[in-house]
Amino acid sequence: MRITHAEIDGFRNLTGISFDPDPDYNIISGKNAQGKTNLLEAVWILSGCRSFRGSKEKDYIHLSGSKMRSEIRLLDGLRQHNISYEMTKNTGKIIHINGVKQRGTSALFDVFKCIAFIPDDVELIKGSPERRRNFIDMAASQLNPIFVVHINKSNLILNQRNALLKEIQQGNASPSELEIWDRQAAHEGTLISYMRNEYVAQINDICGRLYKTISGGKEIMELEYRSSVFKPEDFEKPCNEVVYQQYFQKLRETQEYDIRTGMTHSGVNRDEILIKINGMSARDFGSQGQVKSAALVMKLAQAEIFRKRSKEAPVIFLDDVMGELDSTRQKFIFDMIKGMQVFITVCNESSLLPEIKGKLMRISGGRITEEC
Ligand SMILES: Nc1ncnc2c1ncn2[C@@H]1O[C@H](COP(=O)(O)OP(=O)(O)OP(=O)(O)O)[C@@H](O)[C@H]1O
Ligand SMILES: [Mg+2]
Repeated sequence: MRITHAEIDGFRNLTGISFDPDPDYNIISGKNAQGKTNLLEAVWILSGCRSFRGSKEKDYIHLSGSKMRSEIRLLDGLRQHNISYEMTKNTGKIIHINGVKQRGTSALFDVFKCIAFIPDDVELIKGSPERRRNFIDMAASQLNPIFVVHINKSNLILNQRNALLKEIQQGNASPSELEIWDRQAAHEGTLISYMRNEYVAQINDICGRLYKTISGGKEIMELEYRSSVFKPEDFEKPCNEVVYQQYFQKLRETQEYDIRTGMTHSGVNRDEILIKINGMSARDFGSQGQVKSAALVMKLAQAEIFRKRSKEAPVIFLDDVMGELDSTRQKFIFDMIKGMQVFITVCNESSLLPEIKGKLMRISGGRITEEC
């Protein structure tokens, strides 16, 4: 898929942005703090994902402004789409897909797919287990948007269960009231566990191959899904009543401890995705170079799975990533993302490989000052 037109206004420091991107490479160049990342972020939010900066929606509006708008025209194998995201300080966000007003952001998942590479990606390896779970969940949701419905439901149930645990702890509710939540948590949690297991198995194969290439054949990268409920062999069983029951029993086992602490200690909220390089945890033992390469490879693998499964290439955002990499690694990424539409931000255009030629947009003070 390709973006054919973009308009952004009032989003953070951006004003009056309007451009027709190149179908292949778009280089957004400018000094620090001019609006390069803001431009990518303004387009990114049209994918239905939360900001890759982890910021709050209300921060999207210019500090001294009252509304923002981001709109793109998109061409995929089937048709042209028009998507827009508008927000005012008073009314909250309003999303339109092809002129039809949407109830929330979830329909965007089905329309616009993009993958962002950002310096903060190392947190995929170094950060908390939640970071890795979110990555797997988001990547799997891009392939199958129904997954996001199960994730949202599961989070809602977990919040309700935790609130009830606190009530029980304070003597305001009875432990028997937990059963209804545990049954629902078991149903959603089992579905999520099976989906995570499947996605991790897929991404593991691709990461293994890509990491071998990026490390010159010297190192092995592996990903392993560690469910807090199921053992790897459990996933050979069909996903049915028997396994829901297994999940339910696990919740029952930790119930007393859960009540004492007011928190749920088993289930998908406790899963880990272990990332190993040469058999050792990359989080605990990886060098800086290994950690950076592993994060990069995970994102590239995400793009490859997506392209294979949907026959449609996602749009790629590379924020401040290329300038940091040596030419061998830049070349590796360049080969992997060939054929996809790419948006690259740089402070210094000369840090890019000479092969990367396309539309160049210079940005200063939140405006495009030059296009060539
Ligand atoms: N809500 C907002 N209102 C006004 N300005 C904002 C808002 N949010 C961020 N900014 C400003 O936008 C400017 C540009 O930020 P951005 O992160 O896009 O810079 P950048 O060009 O990517 O810089 P760098 O090269 O350092 O990454 C910053 O000066 C920041 O203070
Ligand atoms: Mg930036």
